[in-house]
Amino acid sequence: MAEQAVLEVAYQIVGGDFSQAGDGASRLKRVLQQIGLAPALARRIAVAAYEAELNVVIHAYSGVLKAKVSPVKVEVWAEDQGPGIPDVELAMQEGYSTAPDHVRALGFGAGMGLPNMRRNADGLEIKTVLGEGTVVYMYFTNRA
Ligand SMILES: Nc1ncnc2c1ncn2[C@@H]1O[C@H](COP(=O)(O)OP(=O)(O)OP(=O)(O)O)[C@@H](O)[C@H]1O
Ligand SMILES: [Mg+2]
Repeated sequence: MAEQAVLEVAYQIVGGDFSQAGDGASRLKRVLQQIGLAPALARRIAVAAYEAELNVVIHAYSGVLKAKVSPVKVEVWAEDQGPGIPDVELAMQEGYSTAPDHVRALGFGAGMGLPNMRRNADGLEIKTVLGEGTVVYMYFTNRA
C-alpha cells in the first residue's frame, strides 16, 4: 500500500515572550494556505493553534507547536514544559483563568482559549503532569 503523503512542521514557543507570541500559528496558517487547504479549515486550525500557542507563552516556560498534515486530517500538538494544569475540567470552563494582571493588561486572560480550541477542533485531548508540563492535542478533519 502506498504511504500517505504527510507534511510535518514544528515551531518553538518561548514562555513569557509576547513579542513573538502567535508567530508559530501564523506560520502554520501560511503553510496550510500554500498547500491549498480549504480556507475555512485553515482558519479553524489557525485559531485553535493560536490559542494553544498563547497558552504556552502565558502559562508555561517553553514549548513547541507541531502539526502533521495528511490527506484526511490535520493534527496539531502544543507541548510545553510548565506547571501543568491542576484541574482540566475547570480549565475548560468558559471564563476560568489564572492569568495574572500584567497578562490581562495585554488583553489576554478571558478564559476563552481552551473553549475556543474545543469549538474549532474536531477532537481535543489534554495530557498534563503537574510540575512537568502539558500536551494539548487537536485534530481537524475536512468537514464541509
Ligand atoms: N499550557 C498550560 N499550562 C498551564 N496551565 C494552563 C495551560 N493552558 C491553560 N492553562 C490553565 O487553564 C486556564 C484556562 O485557559 P484558557 O486558555 O481557556 O484561558 P486563559 O489563557 O486564561 O485566557 P485566554 O485564553 O482567554 O486569553 C488558564 O488560565 C490556566 O490556568
Ligand atoms: Mg488561553
